[in-house]
Order: sequence, then structure tokens, then C-alpha cells
Amino acid sequence: MNYLIWILVAYLLGNFSTSYFVGKIAANIDIRNYGSGNAGSTNVLRTLGLKAGAWAFLGDSLKGVIAVFLGKYYGGVTLMLLCGIAVIIGHNWPFVLRFKGGKGIATSIGVGLFVQPLSALICIIIGVIILFRFKYVSLASITAISLLPFVFIIHGTQYFLFGLALAIMAVYRHRGNIQRLLNGTERKISAGSKTKG
Ligand code: G3P
Repeated sequence: MNYLIWILVAYLLGNFSTSYFVGKIAANIDIRNYGSGNAGSTNVLRTLGLKAGAWAFLGDSLKGVIAVFLGKYYGGVTLMLLCGIAVIIGHNWPFVLRFKGGKGIATSIGVGLFVQPLSALICIIIGVIILFRFKYVSLASITAISLLPFVFIIHGTQYFLFGLALAIMAVYRHRGNIQRLLNGTERKISAGSKTKG
């Protein structure tokens, strides 16, 4: 019972979409009507520029950290991992935004860095290298998070399953990006071009 309450708290935390609020506060727009249509920091960066993108990233990753911290504090490792999954579900499918949220990368970064800092950092560094090389945030995100279960496996089965859950959610949420990458129509990283999506 106690577990279920904290998992619900984590899901509700995930509903707090910083990317959505930054769009509202900075420019009074629904970020989901611009750029890629995603309520995420990459789309805030693309639409409203570096400062807004940085705030969105910070908020969306911080709520991930808070969720796993609460899980660990109130229940230990298993609850921490379940809260990590729940906060990302809340971010990707927030009921307060009619289940149209983000793709969970910033939140996964916050979660991953808290649960296994070094292993998460390895995946992040690989992602950053891919981003610098190819300029596609989506490609960097998909690659980095797909590696997560294989890096996390060194910490045991539950970390592997946790990493697998994060990877499956992220790949599923990026299915439109994958299609565009294959078509050659995916947007490269850019800042501050306010185009309706
Ligand atoms: O974290 C989301 C990123 O990987 C892709 O974002 O807006 O290009 O679909 P976007």
C-alpha cells in the first residue's frame, strides 16, 4: 500500500511538465502546437531558444531526481526504481495534459543519474558524442537510452529490467522521430525558430 502511494506520487510529479509551463510563461504558447509538437526541452529549445530550453531541461530532469529520491528514502532500491518508471510515465502520458506529454529523455537523465550515476553518465556521454557528430537529438537520445539496460546489467537483474523499461518507453515515444530519421526529414538541433507544428 505504502509502495502504491509513492508510485502514484511519482506519476503525479511526472505530470508537472516544466516544458509545457516554460512555453506558457515565456511566450504564452502551448509548446505542443509548435516545432515537433513534443512537450520536451528539445522542442522548447527549438521554439523558444537556449534559456527557455535550459529551464525546461532542468525542471524535467529535476522532477525525476525528486521522484527516485523519495522512492529510495521511503522504501529502498525497488521502490526507487518503480518511482523512476512512474515519473517517466507521468511525464510521457500526463493526465493533466490529456496524456499528451514528452518523450521522457530529460526525466530519464535525472532518474538515471540518481540511481546509478556512473553508468548513466557513460550512456549520456555516448549520446552527447552522437549529438555532436550527427546533430539529431532524437538519434542521440534513442542510442543512449537503448544502451542503458546493457550498461545497467552490471548492477543486477532489477537494474537491467529498469533500464529496459526506460528504453522501451523512449523508443516507443520516439517512433515518429525514427520514421523521420529513416525518411531523412528529421529536424537537426536548432534554437529559437518559432514555427507552428
Ligand atoms: O528528448 C526528445 C528528443 O529526443 C526529440 O525531441 O522535439 O525533436 O521530437 P523532438
